[in-house]
Amino acid sequence: MSVEAETLNRLRQRTSEKWRAYPDDVLPLFVAEMDYPLAPPIADALHAAVDRSDTGYIGPDDRTQRAFADYARRRWGWDVDPAQTRTTTDVGVVIVETLRMLIEPGDRVVVTPPVYPPFFDFIPEAGGVVEEVPLLDGGSDGTGWALDLAGLERAFAGGAKAFLLCNPHNPLGLVHPRAELEAVAELAAHHGVWVVSDEVHAPLTHSGAQFTPFLSVSADARRVGIAAHAASKAWNLAGLKCALFVTTSGELAERVHGLPIEVEVRTSQFGRIATEAAYRSGQDWLDGALAAIESNRALLSLLLTDRLPHVRYREPHASYLAWLDLRELGWGDDPAARILERARVALNPGTDFGTQGAGFVRLNFACSPEVLTEAVDRIAELARRSGG
Ligand SMILES: Cc1ncc(COP(=O)(O)O)c(C=O)c1O
Repeated sequence: MSVEAETLNRLRQRTSEKWRAYPDDVLPLFVAEMDYPLAPPIADALHAAVDRSDTGYIGPDDRTQRAFADYARRRWGWDVDPAQTRTTTDVGVVIVETLRMLIEPGDRVVVTPPVYPPFFDFIPEAGGVVEEVPLLDGGSDGTGWALDLAGLERAFAGGAKAFLLCNPHNPLGLVHPRAELEAVAELAAHHGVWVVSDEVHAPLTHSGAQFTPFLSVSADARRVGIAAHAASKAWNLAGLKCALFVTTSGELAERVHGLPIEVEVRTSQFGRIATEAAYRSGQDWLDGALAAIESNRALLSLLLTDRLPHVRYREPHASYLAWLDLRELGWGDDPAARILERARVALNPGTDFGTQGAGFVRLNFACSPEVLTEAVDRIAELARRSGG
């Protein structure tokens, strides 16, 4: 089906962060929410739940987990046993509870910046200490970015207890090649390191790329890995609060099932209903949304080449986030602040993703082509005024 962004007038009626953080003269291209209307099968499932006043506690059935397992098999050829999964509130809770379960206070947990900012908070929340192994810029997979396998090996050999992998990687839209994930699994197994793979962007992998679930790559990965999945990014359901712990080893499944029942009961009832509908019947809508996203990905390249030739951008292979290098504009470490103040476009400051992000911004292009064009025009006009 064809999916198009809603009009600004309609979007401004939403009460979510993207539409309430700034006044109406600001174009919000920051937080990872999409401007498309809800997928019809999800809207129908939620309307039906309201009609039957189905607003109590989550039930004991595993419909959502089975819907995820069926989706994983259909979409990625990956066999997941629903009995080895469990739901909770959101991906952040999957990560924090998993780390709390696997590490001791003070243990080091590796992240690969520039990376999703809350990773820097999840680790101390779980009692750990962040250890950075930055991504390599100019790697071998064609996107120019890659995991630093030698750096990971040093960190693992040096005593890190866990690795928080972002697969695909936000903010770069980097889809890690299978061979690199196999190498990570082998290193982790060798050094006794747990791998927590945040795969929330996986359904948003673009048509030219192939997402590889970390737990599918080898026996080592199945033994040392736990994945976090959710329909929240791909179907724009972040406010509904439902995510899954996914394990493929008897031992880790047992440990996840040993977590207090409250961890599961904090899943939202509407979240479970919407997530089941997304995995069962949401692919047609998602294909339409991905077509719109991929079209905007190309549009952004054209606009930047034409109007902001000093900005460097590598097209992502997953999701709808662009990591823009603005250093040649000479706008300092936090160009997002200047752009917000003087061009009235809200972007994410690159430094939120790690010190490597100084001079960068993250731009969310899951909007209409008109809004994207207007946003680039406003920034280009600011560059002209600043002589940049
Ligand atoms: C890598 C990554 N993990 C997790 C999340 C948030 O997921 P949730 O809302 O289910 O916690 C995001 C949101 O953008 C993300 O980019």
